[in-house]
Amino acid sequence: MSTTVTGFTLIHQVPLRLCRAIWDSIPSSVRRTPTMFRVGRYIYRKFVRNTVRFQSHYTHFMRNPPLLSVIGALTSHYPANSDVRIASIGCSTGAELYSVIYAIKNARSDLHVKAHGADISGTVVEVARQGVYHPDVPAAQGGLYVAGRAEVASADGPSLVDILQPLPDGSLQVRDWLREGVTWLTADATDERLVNLVGQQDILLANNFMGPMQDELAERCLVNMMRLVAPGGYLVIDGNDLDIKTRVLKASAFRPVLMKQEEIWSSESSRSGWPWLRWAREPLDRSEPDWAYRYSVVFQIGDR
Ligand SMILES: C[S@@+](CC[C@H](N)C(=O)[O-])C[C@H]1O[C@@H](n2cnc3c(N)ncnc32)[C@H](O)[C@@H]1O
Repeated sequence: MSTTVTGFTLIHQVPLRLCRAIWDSIPSSVRRTPTMFRVGRYIYRKFVRNTVRFQSHYTHFMRNPPLLSVIGALTSHYPANSDVRIASIGCSTGAELYSVIYAIKNARSDLHVKAHGADISGTVVEVARQGVYHPDVPAAQGGLYVAGRAEVASADGPSLVDILQPLPDGSLQVRDWLREGVTWLTADATDERLVNLVGQQDILLANNFMGPMQDELAERCLVNMMRLVAPGGYLVIDGNDLDIKTRVLKASAFRPVLMKQEEIWSSESSRSGWPWLRWAREPLDRSEPDWAYRYSVVFQIGDR
């Protein structure tokens, strides 16, 4: 009896490290073809997505500049001097929320930003409230999970001077005009009562904490996040499983916002290593039927 050995059956028999070395040796012009994207997705789903899932507190100031500029641009249609409600769920030590507040105030200084930051770890929430960071040292030490890398590198301090004010001891503090109007709280993103604590939002950030959850919990959590978005508002969601995101959002009233989609998707170099690393960024593949949902980070819900 003869056996046909396909590329897929070979993968089952060869150690993953060797497969990765073979993959890396393929010219990138070949790796970036629809066929190879499909092979990569097969490898990811079959061998990588169910490997070790762990939470961390990693966050960073001004991490995805194209995303921040899109969020700023989305506020252009708000009436003059109106309120804008924004929340970061899984906010960690606050670098993401402060960066977004900066982007909005920079784009629309007349808006009154009412912000909430919520995290399951009270320790990191307290750091976020203080808004003090030491360059090159993660502020999340002592939190529930792995601290991850520092919120700000010393080399970046000067470029962040509009956001972070240097203190005499070498630390950096978020400027008062960005800390005003922010409420920080300890809360669980999977708790259905969260909407009673923070209310519905014009912009809801739900980034980089659903990916490590088990699938069923991640899906429930995503639905819970969607409930926090006010009619006409935006959901910003990144760092979660793309199959779950695509399926749940496609069946909802949320629609992808395609502004700078490709720039946002390719902005974070720390996410290289796909398909071999669980948290790595899958390349944007427009031959995928659901590419608009799969590779979007910003979604808007209709007014009704
Ligand atoms: C990797 S950090 C992401 C921080 C920020 N959202 C960002 O993208 O820069 C993930 C954060 O989510 C928090 N987290 C994890 N599970 C959570 C849950 N069920 N409810 C609220 N926060 C959670 C963790 O404590 C951690 O601080």
